[in-house]
Amino acid sequence: MPTAVRLLLGVLLSLLAAAEVVVGKSGVVSLRDLDGRGAARRSRYDDTKLAEMPGERKKAGGVRTPTTVLELKHHSLTVLPDDSAARDLYLHRLLAADESRANSLQLHGHRAAASAQSSGSGEVPLTSGIRFQTLNYVTTIALGGSSGSAATNLTVIVDTGSDLTWVQCKPCSACYAQRDPLFDPAGSATYAAVRCNASACATSLKAATGMPGSCGSTGGSNEKCYYALAYGDGSFSRGVLATDTVVLGGASLDGFVFGCGLSNRGLFGGTAGLMGLGRTELSLVFQTASRYGGVFSYCLPATTSGDSSGSLSLGADASSYRNTTPVAYTRMIADPAQPPFYFLNVTGAAVGGTPLAAQGLGASNVLIDSGTVITRLAPSVYRAVRAEFTSQFGAAGYPAAPGFSILDTCYDLTGHDEVKVPLLTLRLEGGVDVTMDAAGMLFVVRKDGSQVCLAMASLSYEDQTPIIGNYQQKNKRVVYDTVGSRLGFADEDCSYA
Ligand SMILES: *[C@@H]1O[C@H](CO)[C@@H](O)[C@H](O)[C@H]1NC(C)=O
Ligand SMILES: *[C@@H]1O[C@H](CO)[C@@H](O)[C@H](O)[C@H]1NC(C)=O
Ligand SMILES: *[C@@H]1O[C@H](CO)[C@@H](O)[C@H](O)[C@H]1NC(C)=O
Repeated sequence: MPTAVRLLLGVLLSLLAAAEVVVGKSGVVSLRDLDGRGAARRSRYDDTKLAEMPGERKKAGGVRTPTTVLELKHHSLTVLPDDSAARDLYLHRLLAADESRANSLQLHGHRAAASAQSSGSGEVPLTSGIRFQTLNYVTTIALGGSSGSAATNLTVIVDTGSDLTWVQCKPCSACYAQRDPLFDPAGSATYAAVRCNASACATSLKAATGMPGSCGSTGGSNEKCYYALAYGDGSFSRGVLATDTVVLGGASLDGFVFGCGLSNRGLFGGTAGLMGLGRTELSLVFQTASRYGGVFSYCLPATTSGDSSGSLSLGADASSYRNTTPVAYTRMIADPAQPPFYFLNVTGAAVGGTPLAAQGLGASNVLIDSGTVITRLAPSVYRAVRAEFTSQFGAAGYPAAPGFSILDTCYDLTGHDEVKVPLLTLRLEGGVDVTMDAAGMLFVVRKDGSQVCLAMASLSYEDQTPIIGNYQQKNKRVVYDTVGSRLGFADEDCSYA
């Protein structure tokens, strides 16, 4: 008996010691900050660096490595209602929308998903999450005016899950309301429609949208290539495939192919359109590859308050990063059946430093997406994560609270401003460990803390595609190197106040 007690104590003490010494096994999360209401965390970066953000940088040694840094803002959370019933409804809708996005990304993989698709022979174009209002990160680009005089600033949604960049264009036959002035091709000397016989109109557009362009001429003028992006709920953007000068931060690039949307409908939240950062030729990444080397990265802020923003870097120059750990790379995987998407291989997982065993680990390609909010795990992996999380977090004695929408593991944290939360670590192929930021572990349903949930969900079937969502990518530098075929991760405080 005394031996057993001593042993137990020994284990406890070593666990405590481990918790203090080993970084990244658990973290303290401020529920206020998560809720988006707390004061934004003070940036530890000085203003001189911030002032330098746009534009190009020189590496030590004088080698010019073009890198453009754009501000990345969280777009929708300012509308998070205060009133608890309205908030409840808002979050229900957000998570339902997120579930639709996650389902729409389950393309050819599963019978249930397949049967839900239209039965016609035409392939349903890959849907993006824009219609679901879950693509919450926006940035600002400018189009036209190579002389720098007539460029139009346009705020666009950033999407790693689609390719064609498009904006609403004059003269709209149908445009939704947007905050920026409409882009006017007639006002840009550098604007040109893409010719029907151009490969951009045929193969590139088919890869990007699922359908090649259609050829048409209006009133005797030149033939134009028309694109059509259609989303399952009736949202769409249709218009002319065109080229113009795009201005990204301080850099301008000629001949950028984009969709000039003459007829657009949907819930695009007042933005001017969308920036496609997917993997095929029409993606901004591919089109700017000669300048930026096919590399981009982002850092998503943990707080959702309007005054903090993250960054989107185009180019490989790591001096624009503010990472606090080295960038560790894993293999980037492509799935020919799902051209725009970026995949990786999750070979292991741990919660609070305790390794998990689950059949689903390493079994399928895992999608990393900027537009899905909540991470979806294979059922076997989710069960293991939940069991370990419950045993560690539950040990603190927090009462259980009812589940909320897709989130099934919730606690009543009333009265706690901060809690210590065990962190999920994903081991990626090549032995790279990525530990989630504390801000990515819990989802605050009720403002008073009476319902706070583990911010992850299970897929329905073991053979569906797991997704790493943006909630779990917060406070990380996530690097997409499409030429080196690798994805990199590092810790970074992404809230540039
Ligand atoms: C576009 O944005 C840039 C950078 O913020 C600014 O300097 C410029 O005045 C803006 N142009 C217009 C037409 O608003
Ligand atoms: C496309 O058509 C135009 C005019 O009809 C012609 O000048 C051009 O050479 C053609 N381009 C290709 C790639 O065939
Ligand atoms: C993931 O990596 C493991 C270990 O290298 C390998 O056995 C497994 O087949 C890989 N899975 C995928 C989907 O590539």
